[in-house]
Amino acid sequence: MLKIANRVKALKSSSIMAISARAAELKAEGHEVISLAAGEPDFNTPDLIQAAATKAMKDGITKYTPATGFQSLREAIAKKISLENGFPVDPEEVLITSGAKHGLYLALQCLVDPGEAILIPTPAWVSYSPMIELAGASVIPLPLYEEDGYRPNVERWKGMAIPPNAKGIIINSPNNPTGVVYSREELIKLTGWALQRNLWIISDEIYEKIIYDNLTHTSISALGPEAKKATITVSGFSKSYAMTGWRFGWVIADRPFIAKMASLQSQSNSHVTSFVQWAAITACTLPPEIGNFMVAEFDKRRRYCMERLDKMGDYLSYTRPTGAFYIFINLSKWLIKNRMTDLEFCKELLNKEYVGVVPGSSFGKEHSIRISYATNIDNLKKAFDRIEAYLNR
Ligand SMILES: Cc1ncc(COP(=O)(O)O)c(C=O)c1O
Repeated sequence: MLKIANRVKALKSSSIMAISARAAELKAEGHEVISLAAGEPDFNTPDLIQAAATKAMKDGITKYTPATGFQSLREAIAKKISLENGFPVDPEEVLITSGAKHGLYLALQCLVDPGEAILIPTPAWVSYSPMIELAGASVIPLPLYEEDGYRPNVERWKGMAIPPNAKGIIINSPNNPTGVVYSREELIKLTGWALQRNLWIISDEIYEKIIYDNLTHTSISALGPEAKKATITVSGFSKSYAMTGWRFGWVIADRPFIAKMASLQSQSNSHVTSFVQWAAITACTLPPEIGNFMVAEFDKRRRYCMERLDKMGDYLSYTRPTGAFYIFINLSKWLIKNRMTDLEFCKELLNKEYVGVVPGSSFGKEHSIRISYATNIDNLKKAFDRIEAYLNR
């Protein structure tokens, strides 16, 4: 067998992908599996974006592009950010990346040195820790509490010793897995807390357009020039325009940092697929009704899920989600009574009831599960019927 490098020896594949793979196996065996595990919209990419990609291919936009991305696309993203996110961006401060995920990967590779550490409010998205560790750095979880509604409460961390090797913090609002949208006031406090500690901020805003209850998204870089100087903003259209498979996203940071990330991109994946970039220019000016339609659909599903969960109060509690398409459920009452871990629960639910959900421990919070409601109401109804039957058994 080939000898694997130490750097990647401990690296595991995403636990969510593992659940999706088991769900696919059960489906292939003929079972009616409903997966509430994957974090991707069930809609197809809007026609206007598809048409732009097809036209680009026909027009010969099929060659190498600059590592930074097409200049016209960087300009379109800079304009979108200035108009929608409320902070000025120069096109030279934009890097086009293969999804927000690769943007985060490149940012971490360029930001942290071995021996340094990154803080992550936890529960947190599954890929942050492996990416930090791949850069040779370590992870310091900052606990978020269910009784605070999983909102950042810097008072809670005041007694915590933040070591001098802490280099940055990853902030993610709207949040995966909790669905919580941080308010402007909370972000001002959190940013102030980070700046006082000389931390760089990585702001993952991939769910920026998926928000309910008339709340609004706040970009950390829009909080003022100090905040902008310290922040690397990562986002994309994967979630808001159902473009998960296109692998398109962007990073906003100061020019020297973007130039270094572009060098790393040029020496690895070169750039994002040419016609995908071309179609993304169209995505930057998509009529708002298209995105709003998807958010309205997600909202109906969110409400349905909450109605069902409210009827299971004897077994569980949950934090009302106001963004993204996830609900984070505290199952400790039921799990402790049944002497089960969240991982065992998820395995059993998938193998016996054919419903896929993700264990909270994957996000750094045991005794919990995360469900995604990015699937139609019929599926949600069947899934909840089965979950309820399983909990009642
Ligand atoms: C919090 C968070 N950040 C980043 C990503 C990656 O987004 P993309 O598909 O654009 O790479 C995801 C995808 O699940 C996510 O949930």
